[in-house]
Amino acid sequence: MILNTGRVRDHWHTMTRTGKSQRLSAHLAEPYAEINPVDGLRLGIRDADLVRVKSSCGEIVVRALLSKRQSENAIFVPMHWSGQFASIARVATLVPPIVDPHSGQPALKNVQVHLSRFDAAWYGFAVLRSRPENIAATYWALARCAGGWRVELGGQERSEDWTGFARALLGASKDDTLLAYHDEKTGQHRYAAFDQKGLIGAFYIARNPVAVSRSWAVRQLAADMSAPAERYRILAGRSGADLPDPGAIVCACYSVGTNQITATLASGECQSVKDIGKALKAGTNCGSCRAEINAIINTNRVEAGE
Ligand code: FES
Repeated sequence: MILNTGRVRDHWHTMTRTGKSQRLSAHLAEPYAEINPVDGLRLGIRDADLVRVKSSCGEIVVRALLSKRQSENAIFVPMHWSGQFASIARVATLVPPIVDPHSGQPALKNVQVHLSRFDAAWYGFAVLRSRPENIAATYWALARCAGGWRVELGGQERSEDWTGFARALLGASKDDTLLAYHDEKTGQHRYAAFDQKGLIGAFYIARNPVAVSRSWAVRQLAADMSAPAERYRILAGRSGADLPDPGAIVCACYSVGTNQITATLASGECQSVKDIGKALKAGTNCGSCRAEINAIINTNRVEAGE
């Protein structure tokens, strides 16, 4: 397969500045490989799996994003994630050190690679008040978020001591309160650590990619946790019916998520990017999210027509 490397909308170079912004990090919070769904089917790769991309020079592990934007046999991986923000995602390590004799440019848009599913025994997701010191997982990707950090994790060996793992990751001492939920049958473990100030962090472990709303989990870092019900809600991993989930952030300027856009379209009052801008303000500042809003509108039209 042919690898193309490049930039994403909200980051610049190796994120030395943009990686400090929780708003910019909310849009795409981890490194990924965009793959055509036909290739995904052929290689047994599903959306949100972890994948290994290997060249003659090295290999990386990133999240799979199935998309028809890529043609078959082509992969796109962004260039921004260094060792500062992810364990094993430096796409430049895949590019052979052979340069054009005139420009000195390496073949950043045309690298022969092999793609396979990373055989993860577990997946994890955590939100934390403080940046974790050491993360004992093969795959991890860190991003700033409102009130702290969010981390995606994955590994090939399940821990014998998830409680110890959770305490170390969350930075919870013996004096802090640690709530836990375990379901050995499905391989799910959930932890939430609290001190007097509120939530120190929450950690979700599953055999498949963790199905917890990221934007909801991030908001809990700043939420009032004085009521026990709020603390147990963290373990449930979802907002109550009274608190709608905005979904993955599309418009970083106004923190508008996919679910909000989809719900507004479903109301029948909005049919264009301009309408969405009027209703939610999304797309009305820098405008860089307008293409993505348009893609959501088009997907919605196709689904409504089917
Ligand atoms: S990201 Fe700037 S207007 Fe949406």
